[in-house]
Amino acid sequence: ETVEWDPEQAGKGEYDHFMLKEIYEQPTSLAQAIEGRIDPENGQIALEDFPPGTFEGVGNVQLIACGTSYHAALYGSLALNQAGIRATALLANEYSVTAPPVDDETLVIAVTQSGETADTLNALRQATAAGADTLTVTNVVGSTAAREADDTLFIRAGPEIGVAATKTFSSQAVMLTLLAQRIAADTCGEPPADLTSLLPDLSRMPAQLESMLATDDAARIADRYRDSQSYFFIGRGLGYPVALEGALKFKEITYEHAEGFASGELKHGPLALVTPNTPVFAVFTGVEDEKTLKNAEEAQTRGAPVIAICPDDHRAVEVADQHITIPATDSELAGLFANVQLQLVSYHAANQLDRPIDKPRNLAKSVTVE
Ligand code: G6P
Repeated sequence: ETVEWDPEQAGKGEYDHFMLKEIYEQPTSLAQAIEGRIDPENGQIALEDFPPGTFEGVGNVQLIACGTSYHAALYGSLALNQAGIRATALLANEYSVTAPPVDDETLVIAVTQSGETADTLNALRQATAAGADTLTVTNVVGSTAAREADDTLFIRAGPEIGVAATKTFSSQAVMLTLLAQRIAADTCGEPPADLTSLLPDLSRMPAQLESMLATDDAARIADRYRDSQSYFFIGRGLGYPVALEGALKFKEITYEHAEGFASGELKHGPLALVTPNTPVFAVFTGVEDEKTLKNAEEAQTRGAPVIAICPDDHRAVEVADQHITIPATDSELAGLFANVQLQLVSYHAANQLDRPIDKPRNLAKSVTVE
């Protein structure tokens, strides 16, 4: 007698889909990413190829990426800006037409999970030809980006099989946050003061993620708002790339219409689309939350249900129609917890619609054509 053995099913273990498995792997993949790289007690960051002083001459940073990696790049560029560094995130596929000038103080960071995305490799080559110093933040050892960039920072997320990127986004954003602090320390002399809050909170992140992943908020919300017409995601500051990523994930795997906006931008046009049939997911990071709450209330006034993603004791919980919990943490990390909850909302919504979650139509894990 033989037992049917499907290697793909075996790889998924107890999970129905690789995407769900990879979402639930995040406590581990993040612990791997930060292992040996932070010393929370002494407020130190140690990135193997980038000892203190590495980035002394850097005056400006361009981050290039596509898709989900672009959202991580945007997250990184905002973290750099907050640390006092000139930085811009750029879509790699636009870089050949609209690249900002490169000078001898420019560092170009290619953010690419696979290290094989043609658009990103082309932009990286263009930056190299223009004389920029280059670095890649990637998941794949031996990838083209890792071979071609001057330096590499590996995110150590382990293989990601689901076409929709999940755990790699979290690890990219965390590594870019650490890199931002390293660059700021090298170029401004002093390490930015908030490291004493950021690093201990980062070291707690895997355990906090584990507890958060045991809640069922996301599944409940996905069920409650099934059959909606459109799904909107809003956030401010570091919550903005999270809103964009929340919407991208939702459209990729559910095939439903979803859009992400900067919270304050809702009133400058998108509000025209808001109805009782357009749930608005609002990401709260602890920075200017009152403004974000006001923006969410403007949608609520037009009948839209508001789902607040914030800690349990947050004021938004009273105002919003529904709440998805995240733990209390540093504002540089709050959005990353919110992002994991939004990954789960997308997953459960897609699962209810019976979509082929790991292989959405028309999409590929790695796009090697321009
Ligand atoms: C494809 C995938 C996306 C991914 C993008 C960039 O479009 O479907 O999930 O974000 O490529 O991939 P990279 O490997 O460069 O991060």
